[in-house]
Amino acid sequence: MNVPRSTTKLAVVGAGSVGSTLAYAALARGTARTVALMDVNKAKVDAEVLDLQHGRMFVPEAEVIGSDDVEVCRGADVVVVTAGAKQQPGQSRLDLAEATIGLTRKILPGLVEVAPDAIYVMVTNPVDVVTFAAQQVSGLPPERVFGSGTVLDSSRLRAALAEHCGVATANVHAYVAGEHGDSEIALWSSARIAGVPLLEWEALPGRPPLDDAARATIAREVVESAYKVISGKGATNYAVGLAATRIVEAVLKNEHRVMPVSTRVDGFHGIDGVCLSMPTLVDARGATTVIDTPVSDEEAAGLRASAESVRAVLHRFGL
Ligand code: 2OP
Repeated sequence: MNVPRSTTKLAVVGAGSVGSTLAYAALARGTARTVALMDVNKAKVDAEVLDLQHGRMFVPEAEVIGSDDVEVCRGADVVVVTAGAKQQPGQSRLDLAEATIGLTRKILPGLVEVAPDAIYVMVTNPVDVVTFAAQQVSGLPPERVFGSGTVLDSSRLRAALAEHCGVATANVHAYVAGEHGDSEIALWSSARIAGVPLLEWEALPGRPPLDDAARATIAREVVESAYKVISGKGATNYAVGLAATRIVEAVLKNEHRVMPVSTRVDGFHGIDGVCLSMPTLVDARGATTVIDTPVSDEEAAGLRASAESVRAVLHRFGL
């Protein structure tokens, strides 16, 4: 029987540290049959592709292609956009808005032309603002254009909680929501550790309590963690590359995975007309449904404040 094999194509736009690491992670994990890398810097993209190709013997079978021409993205099932301005030490993600909104407006139409059926995952910062702009300029249904949001921050939160409590990261179920940035908040009231509500967690023998002070410290460290990495090595790349790869897998494998990706939020606890992250169902159709996650009054107020800081930037740029 001649059954055609289903193939998958991931296109990564931007061969900087985030895009290249994402391509590497996708190859190592066998995320897609074809990984296409695109960058305006031809020498850089060619070199990254060569380097990735040289590792093919050690990863699940896949082809790696690259170009400075958008054609390389033709027919992609998922397009991840990482291209943009680099956050300098001391800069916030929102400071990058002017440069990256302009870039988004410039590159999205060409991408949609060659990959009209793709799901678009925006990673470029400030991701909530860039996602909003990308939804507008692409003209695609909003569920097909979403941002990596606070998936990475939630991983940072889970890792910190796991470390503090002395349990495996997989036993921690907790989300960071709101802006992927300084105003994000940890959703403590719905968090669980091994099925135990996090707010009722009793410290294991020899472990410190997870009291108000400990939670405040952990939340602050999560917000500051990107700054710490950027001041030490100039950029973050590994964790964001893994986070984006995991999102791509949820789409390509139609996983119906709940992830805090950045989508347009309307009518959620008084929040309207901005993109930000709440736990959302991600599958082959994109980011389809925001889960009605219970939030405390304090968390709802924090989310509204977070939405306001994103909205202020949208207004500044006429979005
Ligand atoms: C990060 O959180 C800088 O948004 C990037 O690692």
